[in-house]
Amino acid sequence: MNKRELESVAQALVKSGKGILAADESTGTITKRLASIDVISTEETRRNYREMLFSTDGAEAFISGVILYDETIRQADRDGTPFPDLLKGKGIIPGIKVDTGAKEMAGFPGESVTEGLDGLRDRLVEYREMGAGFAKWRAVINIGASIPTSACIKANAHALARYAALCQEAGIVPIVEPEVMMTGTNTIERCEEVTSLTLQRVFEELLDQRVHLEGMLLKPNMVISGQKCSRQAGVQEVAEATLRCFLRVVPAAVPGVVFLSGGQSAVKATQHLNAMNAMGNPMNSMGNPWELSFSYGRALQAPALSAWRGEAENVPLAQRALYHRARCNGAARYGRYTAEMEGA
Ligand code: 13P
Repeated sequence: MNKRELESVAQALVKSGKGILAADESTGTITKRLASIDVISTEETRRNYREMLFSTDGAEAFISGVILYDETIRQADRDGTPFPDLLKGKGIIPGIKVDTGAKEMAGFPGESVTEGLDGLRDRLVEYREMGAGFAKWRAVINIGASIPTSACIKANAHALARYAALCQEAGIVPIVEPEVMMTGTNTIERCEEVTSLTLQRVFEELLDQRVHLEGMLLKPNMVISGQKCSRQAGVQEVAEATLRCFLRVVPAAVPGVVFLSGGQSAVKATQHLNAMNAMGNPMNSMGNPWELSFSYGRALQAPALSAWRGEAENVPLAQRALYHRARCNGAARYGRYTAEMEGA
């Protein structure tokens, strides 16, 4: 492992004004997204959709990296340029999702544990040869009456740390994604408590597994009200709770926090990121110890997906929609996003 190289890739991914496009939906997930616009999911429609996203002119001003799925990293654009090369040609770093999914955790109803460690060392070597500079592994933590259990948090944190160590051995920057789900009835206070416990455990395991914190990125949920909670916290409250939680448990050595959108609307996800960056560090007059950025899937793609509808003639419209969201989130990286930008 070359630590300096890992650090420079991690820093490039959270460069000022830029963030990550998560386009690593598994075949099952992308099939659902395409079904929502009445497009049948085939290898070719998935390729067409991803080509539309990746060939958006100018998006590289706001997009530092794109996370790909195993099928996608092996695909090419219509001229035969492999997607990783197309992205690199624009100065965008290709990344790869390497977990094999969150599976029901034996003995723990309602909880899951993410699989994919077996054979990972060899897969990472292959992905690196295909041009991947970074990887992603997502753990899922559900909130319910008596969950998450500490056993679930521990199992997922351990797997995340083992994954991260293997990535760094292969010269790939790991994005560590412990996602506390926002789909429940829970309050924002409960989300803060669970997010805090989860991140504490994740960093304990990362340190135990000798992960070089300066050469990784954290991809967390924001601290937010559950979607079915009767009281929905406002933008400023979400920003304050998220920063308070992270300042307590995320080591300053981590170069960047790249949030997932997790089902927030595209505009809300931008507003939340903007509010955090506009606030700075509430504990002193200095900035936050880490870059606060985005690694959004739905919040970047949803407007483009609806505009595209599987038709070649809609590609320019869809690309404008993606460019617009990328630009808004790029402004949110500086706390300079405004409602007026949405009308532009
Ligand atoms: P969302 O932003 O749609 O939550 O997706 C990000 C992601 O990569 C989830 O693993």
